[in-house]
Amino acid sequence: MALIELRSLTKVFQMGENEVHALAGVSLDIENGEMLAIMGPSGSGKSTLMSIIGCLDVPTDGSYSLDGQTVEKLKDSQLAQVRNQKIGFVFQQFNLLSRTSALENVLLPLGYSGLGARASREKALKALEMVGLTDRVRHHPAELSGGQQQRVAIARALVNEPAILIADEPTGALDSKTGEEIMGLFQRLHSDFGQTVILVTHDPFVARHTRRIVRLSDGLITSDTANPNPIAAGTPRPELEM
Ligand SMILES: Nc1ncnc2c1ncn2[C@@H]1O[C@H](COP(=O)(O)OP(=O)(O)OP(=O)(O)O)[C@@H](O)[C@H]1O
Ligand SMILES: [Mg+2]
Repeated sequence: MALIELRSLTKVFQMGENEVHALAGVSLDIENGEMLAIMGPSGSGKSTLMSIIGCLDVPTDGSYSLDGQTVEKLKDSQLAQVRNQKIGFVFQQFNLLSRTSALENVLLPLGYSGLGARASREKALKALEMVGLTDRVRHHPAELSGGQQQRVAIARALVNEPAILIADEPTGALDSKTGEEIMGLFQRLHSDFGQTVILVTHDPFVARHTRRIVRLSDGLITSDTANPNPIAAGTPRPELEM
């Protein structure tokens, strides 16, 4: 059984008199430890799909099994619990709290974990170490570069040791060199720690850093292809794709 099994997922939003079919029947398996990219034009349903995979939202129809659990049958409180335990989110705009340090930002998701202060701090420091920010733990977001802020956001996403890391346009707000550093970090989390990573991007060059590329169009999967030779992070972008 795959970590994620989606079967004929649909998501319909009611907008006044109109229905928006954001997902029109998506079936997809994602294995534990995979790193893949979801691509597609604006409005094709990428973020909607990530909200459902990330247990932020439920499908209108179809089924979703996560780690053997049937997600669409869960109550809201159970859904929140699965989300907190199994999912880490990273967004384009880092969504950090500006008035607190990197360490406090990473500590936040541990608030409900029942861990003591010392154990929480150790976990948060370990997550910051994984993203290479050991020397910046007391800095506030405004005192960090964009790439460093995204690293704090990734450490925050990792601190609960989630089964799945979901990153929606994680390099969208970064220059191409910093974007490459962040892609290198995702690649290392995947190769060294077996982290499952689902990356959403509209950028084909970013997508080619992964071994599998799934394309969405109008709420449907139009292709699902293997990329046997992923781009190594740090590779300059070819001129034509600038
Ligand atoms: N909460 C909502 N209410 C109504 N319609 C929505 C809602 N969320 C998304 N949609 C619609 O569903 C479709 C898919 O949106 P989605 O955000 O998933 O696209 P996307 O592929 O992530 O696009 P982008 O690349 O611009 O981020 C769009 O037509 C959008 O307008
Ligand atoms: Mg989106």
